[in-house]
Amino acid sequence: MIPTTDQVHVCNDAESLAQYAAVWLPRLIQRTMAEPERKQPFVLALSGGSTPKRMLELLAEQPAGTVNWQDVILVWGDERNVPPDHEESNFRMVREALLDKVGIPAENVLGVPAPGGDAGKAASDYASLLRSRLPMIEGQSFPVLDCVLLGMGDDVHTASLFPGTKALSETKRLVVANHVPKLDTHRITFTAPLINAARHVAFLICGEKKKDALARLWHAEKDFDLYPAQLIRPENGQLWYLLDKPALGDTPLPASVMVQML
Ligand code: 6PG
Repeated sequence: MIPTTDQVHVCNDAESLAQYAAVWLPRLIQRTMAEPERKQPFVLALSGGSTPKRMLELLAEQPAGTVNWQDVILVWGDERNVPPDHEESNFRMVREALLDKVGIPAENVLGVPAPGGDAGKAASDYASLLRSRLPMIEGQSFPVLDCVLLGMGDDVHTASLFPGTKALSETKRLVVANHVPKLDTHRITFTAPLINAARHVAFLICGEKKKDALARLWHAEKDFDLYPAQLIRPENGQLWYLLDKPALGDTPLPASVMVQML
């Protein structure tokens, strides 16, 4: 365990957060790909929901070459159990915001295989796909992604790790189908150990609606069942919180974080 100091970067509002994240992410990719001996592509897990959409749109508008998309493999940290053209699909959100506008090779886009039917099969097929395409480090049981982007719900869920659901206690599998009673549906989601194996994990959280959830994430008693986002603690990676001021509100910062007010 290499102790790192959590980074908290705070922007004025949702738009400036999206603008900031659309610069922060390419810089992370460039820094990583410039590392000596770096050969394999940058593996980026995208989050779903609405927050990342604007950042992705801005990424798509960046000058050519800001991101060498042929050096990036895209995966999804979670997916709704709907076909990829469904209005609820996280894949569709990313396709419309980014994929349709940048020349990323199709073989670099690893969406969940055939969501919308048997969620358990989609989850296990996705895990097999990830194991076949992502670098495994000798002795590690989880592939090491370069960056996992996460959102957070106002119930302190992240990815599709919702309060009181079975996926929260998964310690072996990479991806599971998670029944979410409050949504009366199954989701396909990365598990906490897969997320925590990543080199960088970045929460992208904005809006006053998320203020209380962020305060519980940071300051409530440890209760992973109640506050699933508390499960996120990279084993050997860096944890980032990219926030806007409304989401931070007057919540005290956790002890010993590095903060940048932007
Ligand atoms: C999803 C997400 C989920 C999302 C949060 C926040 O599929 O919905 O992965 O974890 O990040 O629910 O959603 P918003 O960004 O829409 O608030």
